[in-house]
Amino acid sequence: MARTAMFEEHAADLEPNLSILNIDPPDHTRLRRLVSQAFTPRTVETLRPMVQSLVDDALDVMESAGQADLIGGLAFPLPFDVISEMLGMPENDKLQIRDWSAAIVKTIDPVITEDEVIAAADASREMDRLIDAVIEWKRANPADDLLTALIEAEEDGDRMTARELRDQVSVLFIAGHETTVNLIGTGIYQLLLHPEQLSRLVADPSMITNAVEELLRYVAPVQITRRIATRDLEIGGKEVAKGSFVLCSLASANRDPVFWGDDAEALDLARQDASHHVSFGSGVHYCLGASLAKLEAEVAIGSFVRRFADAEIVGDPEWNGRINLRGLEKLELRLS
Ligand code: HEM
Repeated sequence: MARTAMFEEHAADLEPNLSILNIDPPDHTRLRRLVSQAFTPRTVETLRPMVQSLVDDALDVMESAGQADLIGGLAFPLPFDVISEMLGMPENDKLQIRDWSAAIVKTIDPVITEDEVIAAADASREMDRLIDAVIEWKRANPADDLLTALIEAEEDGDRMTARELRDQVSVLFIAGHETTVNLIGTGIYQLLLHPEQLSRLVADPSMITNAVEELLRYVAPVQITRRIATRDLEIGGKEVAKGSFVLCSLASANRDPVFWGDDAEALDLARQDASHHVSFGSGVHYCLGASLAKLEAEVAIGSFVRRFADAEIVGDPEWNGRINLRGLEKLELRLS
């Protein structure tokens, strides 16, 4: 089937996604305000004991096995469990959401097969249905969690519609775990590939905050953002016509020698201006979960390094095959 016909059959009836990632002000401003309360640095800091306890449990299991997959054992479940906990999701629906989410995020790759478009469209419909059901369940079982707070905003009248609510929950789930997995997974992998940097961090654990910034710069867990020009403009001497679809390479900006200097390609956990990376984007769409992602990575990477500084990579790592959310699918480690 021709690509256009295939797309029309499987994806054309999908409703436009109203998550804050995809919309402009003034709707973006209104909705971002409603979801942002839970993500301020101060509120996020209160999650530290919960994050530490999830990390400790995961590392205990890995240690007792002696050899373990870092991604399946820690990097993936941690961000997923944290956002599930914040939202107050029912336990049973989590595994299914993982699979659908993986299919949906393929659509932000610049190259995608027909089968992947079909799988993403189907997953998107299923995910919408499940989130609608979870919202109904939560209406009957309110609690002290983010989903209940968002439902209250929706029930309050014209602050948020039911569809807007569903799309915010969905983006929080997807953005909440498909990105941080790469920071923790590829970040630890890079430390193991750079033993001199790993030793610095082991010798001085207070470096962890800057180390996470440098790993964010170096790894770029989201490699590309996308924009559609709303007017004609010029960027860096290039004309961009209104309506153009523009891909911006965050990963490339993070290693631009004009900004970072001759050692742009080097991993340096003590780099002075490491936090000037653009891994969380910039402007009104700057990552809502930046503080949360950094907290999760600090606790996960800091704790891993404290316990397993001698970890050895077993065999070749498996990459996830994604262009944008580039990261590891599997990293087998010997831990004792
Ligand atoms: C290392 C981890 C993460 C990275 C690298 C990352 C990266 C990004 C980037 C680059 C954007 C901007 C996209 C654009 O401008 O088009 C963004 C937006 C966003 N991120 Fe993250 N993110 C991470 C973790 C998280 C987490 C943990 C959450 C929430 C639980 C989250 C929620 C969001 C949301 C809701 C937006 C849309 C914000 C808006 O459009 O106003 N992210 N993220």
